[in-house]
Amino acid sequence: MKKLVVHPVQRLQGILAIPGDKSISHRAVMMGSLAYGVSRVTHFLPSADCLSTIGIFKSMGVKIRRSGERLTIIGRGLNSLKPPEKTLDAGNSGTTARILLGVLAGQPFTSRLTGDKYLKRRPMRRVVEPLAQMGARITGPENANLLPLKIETRKLRGITYQLTVASAQVKSALLMASLFAEGETKVIEPTPTRDHTERMFNAFSVPFTQRGGAVSLRGPVLPFKGQKIRVPGDISSAAFFIVAGLLVPNSRIVLKNVGLNPTRTGLLDVLHDMGAQIEVFHHKTRGGEEPVGDLIVVSSRLKGVEVSGEVAPRMIDEFPILAVAATQAEGTTVVRGAAELKVKESDRILMMAVTLRKMGAVIEPTADGWIIEGPTPLKGCRISSGGDHRVAMSLAVAALVSQGPTTVLDTENINTSFPGFENLLQKASVS
Ligand code: S3P
Repeated sequence: MKKLVVHPVQRLQGILAIPGDKSISHRAVMMGSLAYGVSRVTHFLPSADCLSTIGIFKSMGVKIRRSGERLTIIGRGLNSLKPPEKTLDAGNSGTTARILLGVLAGQPFTSRLTGDKYLKRRPMRRVVEPLAQMGARITGPENANLLPLKIETRKLRGITYQLTVASAQVKSALLMASLFAEGETKVIEPTPTRDHTERMFNAFSVPFTQRGGAVSLRGPVLPFKGQKIRVPGDISSAAFFIVAGLLVPNSRIVLKNVGLNPTRTGLLDVLHDMGAQIEVFHHKTRGGEEPVGDLIVVSSRLKGVEVSGEVAPRMIDEFPILAVAATQAEGTTVVRGAAELKVKESDRILMMAVTLRKMGAVIEPTADGWIIEGPTPLKGCRISSGGDHRVAMSLAVAALVSQGPTTVLDTENINTSFPGFENLLQKASVS
């Protein structure tokens, strides 16, 4: 089992390049595979999760060549996927599994989809249910809530669907299915979630409309051509360095080419409210029409805040690292409306409370968040991440400001989203 030993550091410094965005990398592979002609993707994230997506499309006959962070995808059009010979394996990747279900539901062949032991525990019904309303036949354990799932071929028709959870994965699965469905599909969101699928549709000239929290698309869509996509740096990966730079005294770091899509920048808003000094510059829009910019982060004295459910979807993957920041902020931080954290790669509400408590933090888990009192001195210890990549990296950041070394156990899954994390942390550390 892999582990990460982290020592406290004096300060962090340097100019850091953040690897490509995971969500956008998945979508680039999916859309490039369904387009006809060549798509070229640069600054792709070669993490285990995104490689699972590549593997799945390759096993359905798409030609994909990868050289480091560059992909060449040779798609043969919307209706060119071949029946896979084996069960498709999404590994640890919830995004692959859920969005792919939308693609598979639209195929003229039967397929089977599975994942690793963590993914097999995560709910799929949220996607299966609306896809069934579109006419899909998907079967599997616990009323098709759990992998492995069997997806049989059926004709899909467009529906109007109001999301019951604020989930970009569910929205994206339905939008993918709508490419193959007859008639209009309309997805209505309770709160805006990341809109990378919509922006990727724009980049590939797939027509849709977006009005008052609803995305509508009339299918089946006409063939669309391969494109050039440059993936911005992943703000969810940058988040660990942002918080590390704020907490470690005397630090100043520059994070280059970070994706600043407003549906993803909730953490920056909350940290600003806490008193963080984070400056954004070189703000621009790149291929795939995703905004990017550079960030300068300077050590800051933070104060506790109240975080409500409104901002939750805009920072859903950043709550573990926010919890670490809150242990070092003056006063009480209250997080509400984040119950979705319970069904991520682990129950993150529980995992962060248990692990940070072990390090000396005052953190109370609630039904949909935490109450955290700060600042509290943290102490290094041996601690398990429970196999959750974001818990592991959050604990590594907490370790930078702890007394004595920390050993984070079960860190293999850091590779699912941020393969170079340990090296980048070492590069930035001055001890
Ligand atoms: C993602 C959406 C979010 C997020 C996940 C990636 C995506 O999940 O937690 O890491 O790429 O659409 P939900 O849509 O389930 O909130």
